[in-house]
Amino acid sequence: MYRVAAIGGDGIGPEIINEGRKVIDTAAEKFGFDIDWVELSIGADRYLGTGELLTADDLATLSECRAIYFGAIGDERVQPGILEKGILLALRFHFDQYVNLRPIRLLPGVPTPLAGKGPEDIDFVVVRENTEDFYVGIGSRFMKHEKKTLDVVRELYEVKFSLDVETDAEELAYQIGVITREGSRRVIEYAFSIAEQRRKKVTSVDKANVLSDVYGLWRDVFRGVAETHPGVSNEYTFVDAITMWFVKNPEWFDVVVTPNMFGDIITDLGAMIQGGLGLAPGGNINPSGVSMFEPIHGSAPKYKGQNVANPLATIWAGSLLLDTLGEHEASEAVIGAIGRAITSGKVTRDMGGDLSTSAVGDAVAGLLKQS
Ligand code: IPM
Ligand code: MG
Repeated sequence: MYRVAAIGGDGIGPEIINEGRKVIDTAAEKFGFDIDWVELSIGADRYLGTGELLTADDLATLSECRAIYFGAIGDERVQPGILEKGILLALRFHFDQYVNLRPIRLLPGVPTPLAGKGPEDIDFVVVRENTEDFYVGIGSRFMKHEKKTLDVVRELYEVKFSLDVETDAEELAYQIGVITREGSRRVIEYAFSIAEQRRKKVTSVDKANVLSDVYGLWRDVFRGVAETHPGVSNEYTFVDAITMWFVKNPEWFDVVVTPNMFGDIITDLGAMIQGGLGLAPGGNINPSGVSMFEPIHGSAPKYKGQNVANPLATIWAGSLLLDTLGEHEASEAVIGAIGRAITSGKVTRDMGGDLSTSAVGDAVAGLLKQS
């Protein structure tokens, strides 16, 4: 019996999470375990009603769960950034989910925009650092007449920045990226440990030629960790170059490890080459804590409540969740069922089919039961 939290969130979130739960429950029945779902109504509606983003109660409830299944966050009635930072990023940071795991795998029967490439060419994993870099939230914005001292303490890092800013510019903004040796080491170690189970190659992403402090440290740590894994080959690329190689030679990659911000950008590109955002899952993982699984697409508010959204990315995220619970066979069986739903055309409109969200969930659950 596993206790798992479900947060539908905003827009299409609740609909796709329903389908994901349907498939996970089917897997549980088939493989002989139970899920005790704990539903939380976190998101725009509650925020607009009560002003609450994440409460102490939410965090206490979530910390009692083995994992979190997360739909999507984002609503037109709320200024961009509030829900994203106050809920999604806050959860990633609170539970120290330092690995953002994003498989880039083209399933058979799914069209890719890359000419001449097939499922045998597109099968790698991006390991995105998930708690540092430009996501730490240190920054400010002000006008010429405001004399400001940047004086920010981030207890998380026990670092104090104090800097007098004087400028003739009319308006100024800055944002600081923070990389720590420990923070990069743990995620790079994780990448190598996955590579040991795969094709034994890790590619590091950085921009050490320009942002040489933060990514210079990242690269040093990468080198150090690579030395302790002689059986795994390694290479570095600059982030601009890797976008080119994702398109030109995706077959080169096995495990790609990247700082947070670059990881955000290149995984949207990865999603496109694996068939679109409708098929791209992600896991926010703390290997010894509470992990959270979500589709990497957003809340698509214009499709809310219409039963047309593609639930496959969420169902796939459910497979990652099962894997983290240790239910490896169930996890693989779910991917298999997703694959059979696709090859038999049981998909939503965005993938060329005509099924509704719930009909796709039913189809995957049915195929899983038969397998
Ligand atoms: C993602 C998203 C988030 C991110 C946003 C919604 C905060 O783009 O999960 O990739 O930037 O990490
Ligand atoms: Mg993103």
